[in-house]
Amino acid sequence: MSDVPTRGPETAGSEPLLKLSGLEQVFDTGKGEVPAVGGVDLEVRPGKVLCLVGESGCGKTTTARAAAGLTKPTGGTVAFRGKDVSRMSSAERLAYRRAVQFIHQDPYAALNPTRTVFSTLTAGLRRHKQVRSKAEAREKAGELLRLVDLTPPESYLDSYPHQLSGGQRQRVNVARSLAMNPELLICDESTSMLDVSIRVSLLNTLGKLRDELDVGFLFITHDLAVAKYFAWDGEIAVMYLGKVVEHGPTPEVIGNPQHPYTKALIGAVCEPDPDLARANRAASELRSADIPSLTALPSGCAFHPRCPAYEPGLCDDAEPPLIRFGGRPAAPGAAGGRRLACHVVSRDHGRSPSDDPAESALGSGSPRGAAWSA
Ligand SMILES: Nc1ncnc2c1ncn2[C@@H]1O[C@H](COP(=O)(O)OP(=O)(O)O)[C@@H](O)[C@H]1O
Ligand SMILES: [Mg+2]
Repeated sequence: MSDVPTRGPETAGSEPLLKLSGLEQVFDTGKGEVPAVGGVDLEVRPGKVLCLVGESGCGKTTTARAAAGLTKPTGGTVAFRGKDVSRMSSAERLAYRRAVQFIHQDPYAALNPTRTVFSTLTAGLRRHKQVRSKAEAREKAGELLRLVDLTPPESYLDSYPHQLSGGQRQRVNVARSLAMNPELLICDESTSMLDVSIRVSLLNTLGKLRDELDVGFLFITHDLAVAKYFAWDGEIAVMYLGKVVEHGPTPEVIGNPQHPYTKALIGAVCEPDPDLARANRAASELRSADIPSLTALPSGCAFHPRCPAYEPGLCDDAEPPLIRFGGRPAAPGAAGGRRLACHVVSRDHGRSPSDDPAESALGSGSPRGAAWSA
């Protein structure tokens, strides 16, 4: 292969690429202050996937945009390879902006309709004088297309976006970001507009970039089946109203969820087995379907007005901190640990959580089981 992306797996498991510490984003609006992200601590390592899940409006995109340097957080820090982004020199910042690429939800809106695939893929390379001739540029563009499984490249190089399917357009977007030799891809619902079979195929391509090029992923989805499929070897962080409420290795979070909100999310996934579907629904019945407004957050735990485990005096008093849960130690964001923000579960935790396994709609088995709905 070429000199386009060239990192080996030896960096896997090393220092975090991305570290969010106490990240806050408050928007000043006509209706008052909107605390879209209220103190998030997360890390992504090379070749690893951190999946952010949660209902619409919980702050996933806001977190992702701050992580990509597209917005300046109002509190906390974003660090890339140990360096606070807000304190970077302009050269460091340029390197960070190249190393961290953001892939949007809508592949059509992200592409210039008047540019061919070749022009889109090589604009950055030509601007930064990384190619010397048109022939070299076509060669590079071809390599990028092969990386995202658009082959043979000659069939695509001279196409315009309207001549491509949604899945092909999203692959072109990914290829364009790979031209910058990224270390971290931030995918914001990047597969959610695609048909199911195309979605699985693109997820497999992204998985190849993760495994072979050691690219780290901050992968955002509202679809737990997609999270399970893509982040099985990684971690899931569940967000609710701007905060992480549960975080840990994917098999643990999906197979044995602890937070009542995580249980509700999992219970809401379509389950083909009617008995299991009934059991999941019963286990996760919410007291209210309404999501509170960010401008009038409930006291104590923000989930308490909807929570089936709500206990007056406990849950509506102080906000539950996101703390270590289960037997293994966990630094914030560290792989292998589990963190949870729930007064009730933490109090009852004297019992081992494995005494009470919540068999979920997604099951605790192999991620391939989720492929039907991914
Ligand atoms: N630029 C903005 N100005 C004001 N409010 C915003 C802005 N961007 C996002 N929000 C609000 O912040 C909250 C989180 O939004 P977002 O991060 O897009 O959530 P998600 O991606 O999880 O759906 C929402 O209530 C949204 O309305
Ligand atoms: Mg969003």
